Amino acid sequence: MAAENLKNDRILRAARGEKVDRPPMWVMRQAGRYLPEYNATKGNNDFFAVCRSPELASEITLQPIERYLPHIDAAIIFSDILVVPQAMGMTVEMIEKRGPVFPSPLRQPEEIATKLKEKVDVAGDLKYVFDAIRETKKKLDGRVPLYGFVGAPWTLLSYMVEGGGSKMFCEIKRWVFKHPEESKHVLQRITDVVIEFLARQVEAGANIVQVFDSWAGELSPADFRVFSLPYLRQISARLPQRLAELNVAPVPMTVFAKGAWFALDELCDSGYQVVGLDWTYDPAEAVKVARGRVTLQGNMDPGALYGGKEAITREVEKLVRGFKGAKGRWICNLGHGITPGVNPEDLGHFFKEVERVATEVYKE
Ligand code: CP3
Repeated sequence: MAAENLKNDRILRAARGEKVDRPPMWVMRQAGRYLPEYNATKGNNDFFAVCRSPELASEITLQPIERYLPHIDAAIIFSDILVVPQAMGMTVEMIEKRGPVFPSPLRQPEEIATKLKEKVDVAGDLKYVFDAIRETKKKLDGRVPLYGFVGAPWTLLSYMVEGGGSKMFCEIKRWVFKHPEESKHVLQRITDVVIEFLARQVEAGANIVQVFDSWAGELSPADFRVFSLPYLRQISARLPQRLAELNVAPVPMTVFAKGAWFALDELCDSGYQVVGLDWTYDPAEAVKVARGRVTLQGNMDPGALYGGKEAITREVEKLVRGFKGAKGRWICNLGHGITPGVNPEDLGHFFKEVERVATEVYKE
């Protein structure tokens, strides 16, 4: 990465287990509705139209950077995990106040043949993401590294089958219990697309990547080992191979399997350099399980940002002390995405407090 002249590579150093002067920080969904500047740029534009505009997507990606520098250590490209089902042939709409909706979900295995494209043109159909990454890199000018990301195959299949967000997960559970072989077949097809998509994001300039398995916690430990983990492992094994074919240097990889606390030990051996934790893990316990094998990322409850400055300070004290045993192998983040309604100044307070408390606690 030296060739690129990054002025701040704390996140990359921490991901590789190298020494850092303070914990690197960013937050999931940092470019989003809690920021007035995001709402102003988005206006009445359709969400996916904004994703498809390299100009707007790069502008939004930069918003939290401009606001929080020098306390923020990475940008994440403004896009969505659901651009992959779109490239595979499905229609996805973003409905205001409701979230993503698939008007015609994959309810039966027979529909795979008619609803999914046989060959997916990742480089062509998702070119707008790579263009947005290139535009963003220009605007960032090396100030911080840029994250690329994808949804994990299990989470993407859940959306494709449920047709949107879900509380009961009846449809996807019907698939895995009634049609386990067909489920594995589609998961494999999604995996192939996801690997190519990540490789092209890195080729376009992403410095580090994250795989979001937001619905991992809906599976039992045994089923997670069948319907999610093997595909997560394939991604970490095959991405470096694909990058080598493209003549692109490998980058650190992060896996965030929300709710899969039962799988932390296996995730630490799944080929990723960074493992993200949601807020239901006790940091010190996670550090013990990880045993220095990976860099941990997380994990303050995003809800704590609603508690005001004093509550945030209290939570930060616990967070920083909890990760002390990680000996620098920690990327500070929330345990899930930041939510609308948070006061942006309170996120600034969070960043500053992490820096202040870490300086005290880590010299003890
Ligand atoms: O700042 C960033 O983190 C980069 C952009 C980003 C978005 N979505 C923008 C977005 C990222 C990394 C995502 C990932 C994503 N998208 C996930 C995985 C992370 C997670 O939260 O578990 C998932 C499950 C999705 C699917 C999705 N997109 C949902 C369920 C929703 C609606 C719910 C919600 O939070 O509004 C979206 C919409 C979405 N994606 C918004 C943003 C900023 C809000 C859209 C709007 O402006 O109306």
